[in-house]
Amino acid sequence: MSPVSDRPVTVVGATGYLGRYLVAELDARGHRVRAVVRDPGRARQPGPYGAPPLIGAHTELVRADVTEPGRITGLLAGSGRVFSALGVTRQKASPWDVDFLANLAVLREAERTGVESMLYVGAIGMEHGTSLVARSKTAFAAALESSPVPGWIVNPSAYFSDMSSTVDLARRGVFLLPPDPGIRLNPIHGADLAAFCVDLSEGPAGPGTGRVEVGGPDVLTAREVVRIAADAAGTDPCTLRIPRRLLDGMVWTAGRVSDRHGNLARFFAESMTRDAVSRCTGTRHLADWFADLT
Ligand SMILES: NC(=O)c1ccc[n+]([C@@H]2O[C@H](COP(=O)([O-])OP(=O)(O)OC[C@H]3O[C@@H](n4cnc5c(N)ncnc54)[C@H](OP(=O)(O)O)[C@@H]3O)[C@@H](O)[C@H]2O)c1
Repeated sequence: MSPVSDRPVTVVGATGYLGRYLVAELDARGHRVRAVVRDPGRARQPGPYGAPPLIGAHTELVRADVTEPGRITGLLAGSGRVFSALGVTRQKASPWDVDFLANLAVLREAERTGVESMLYVGAIGMEHGTSLVARSKTAFAAALESSPVPGWIVNPSAYFSDMSSTVDLARRGVFLLPPDPGIRLNPIHGADLAAFCVDLSEGPAGPGTGRVEVGGPDVLTAREVVRIAADAAGTDPCTLRIPRRLLDGMVWTAGRVSDRHGNLARFFAESMTRDAVSRCTGTRHLADWFADLT
């Protein structure tokens, strides 16, 4: 029997790729879910890359922008668990404002309200990164670890949604490989990650905060990702390896354009130059997902 109460579960970042799967998984297990969204109309539509609409029988949409001061007060009233998949990916906002400050505001409200636990989804390897995204996620993880609210920090490898551009590039016939094409990752489908997170949160919480790194069932090199994308696209792309010095030059140039461009370039460059392999979970395979995209 699950040790968690039947109080509603609040999900912030609910309209994102992962957030939608978290809400769907909780709803399917019969939990009452409060999905915090900026735009209820958009929330009821399917998300990108097949992510589900937020229309479950047990799901209530709560309209709020958690980055706005004062919008968080009362948001967690009566909540048991809190999940956060809140973070900047394609949005233009500062990662510090969203990944750190907005998540921190949710955490402070969780402390004030006395929720049972908080599960935060960050990203693998951020503690070694120097980009603003990495520093913002690391700063929030540290705040959660020192909070009296027990919980989990789940740091996943890349999401399938993030890999879709590989198929686009394979279709165009040219592919850029990282300086070391042998770097490894185990990308994960949003549904598999959501199931993992909900399982985790249904176990005993605390004391303190647990930290888990997780990825999908297949450990692949960058070169293998390109090969399965090419197989799915039915092409034989020309692959070019980006020399390390060129990558450093691109980061430097992007930094001259703006801080935002520089930080994004740094984030991608750092992601392209280290392994992102973690505990394997899930049943969905990248090759099948790529095939469905084509
Ligand atoms: N994508 C990957 O490969 C990957 C891999 C590992 C870890 N992660 C991390 O996992 C988390 C979820 O990723 P995802 O791919 O699901 O991201 P996503 O689809 O971009 O969703 C991010 C969520 O945060 C919200 N958000 C972003 N900027 C906001 C702002 N300025 N104000 C209010 N809300 C804002 C979005 O709201 P709206 O829908 O209203 O924009 C959305 O609900 C992120 O922290 C990401 O860094 C991602």
